Amino acid sequence: MKIITQAPELKEFTKNINQSIGFVPTMGALHEGHISLIKRAKRENEIVIVSIFLNPTQFLKGEDLDKYPKKDEADKKICELAGVDVLFLPHVNDIYGSDEASILAPKVRGYILEGATRPGHFNGVLTVVMKLLNIVAPTNAYFGKKDAQQLNLITLMVKQFFMSVNIVAVDTVRESDGLALSSRNIYLNKNERKEALKISASLYMAGKMVSKNILDSKEIIKEMRATLEPLEIFYVEILSRDFEKLLHVEIGNTIILVEAKVGTTRLLDNIWL
Ligand code: PAJ
Repeated sequence: MKIITQAPELKEFTKNINQSIGFVPTMGALHEGHISLIKRAKRENEIVIVSIFLNPTQFLKGEDLDKYPKKDEADKKICELAGVDVLFLPHVNDIYGSDEASILAPKVRGYILEGATRPGHFNGVLTVVMKLLNIVAPTNAYFGKKDAQQLNLITLMVKQFFMSVNIVAVDTVRESDGLALSSRNIYLNKNERKEALKISASLYMAGKMVSKNILDSKEIIKEMRATLEPLEIFYVEILSRDFEKLLHVEIGNTIILVEAKVGTTRLLDNIWL
């Protein structure tokens, strides 16, 4: 596995490649969720490039940038074992200068859900993803459905800026008890880890209601909120795949999304129906 830290060197490397390139951008502290993106990229491309970059611009003041888990050596081993061809590990100064142009998230879709509680977060996400996609110039780029709003906004950006990359959505990987894998799960103590299960439980319950043909959004959300108690809920929403509110679940076009706080940790999860 080649490790590259400089953007010009990676650009030079990819310029000379005539094979398909699969790209998996991450912020490190890799887990099975990230690995499933890498495996999918391996299956569908000749060359796989992973980036690990803790992007400061997507963290708001007072968020967990400073305590975000860092596991550089373990991450390198994971990538090597997963058959990654190139690991891109840039420093902040290699990605950002001063007084820069940047990408602004859409004013509506970038400021609902996670964007409502973290205003400006998606400006940072889209700006860094634009930069990374320009450096790597991949055929396919892989993102998790777990971060459904991020995935939706990146897909929109790629379309609206007429970019050539194909965005691939990958299913959420969970622990056997249902908890969606996240680099932030490490913040949970034993009791919080148990409490966090209410999030996936509320989504499974919604799925069950839908399978019994209960499709009314209000009714489902009410039951989900009861299941989530006493967690602090940021949102429970039933949206279309385009992130428009749905009064009724439409099978094949629905995402049910939850964000809740467990202890001091915000956790996201969703199901696609
Ligand atoms: P990070 O949180 O490290 O996640 C990297 C990728 O892994 C994202 O596409 C995310 O959706 C996916 N992922 C996380 N948990 C997953 C799970 N349980 N199952 C499947 N996929 C999962 O998301 C980011 O980094 C950043 O915002 C980034 C896109 C790299 C831009 O900085």
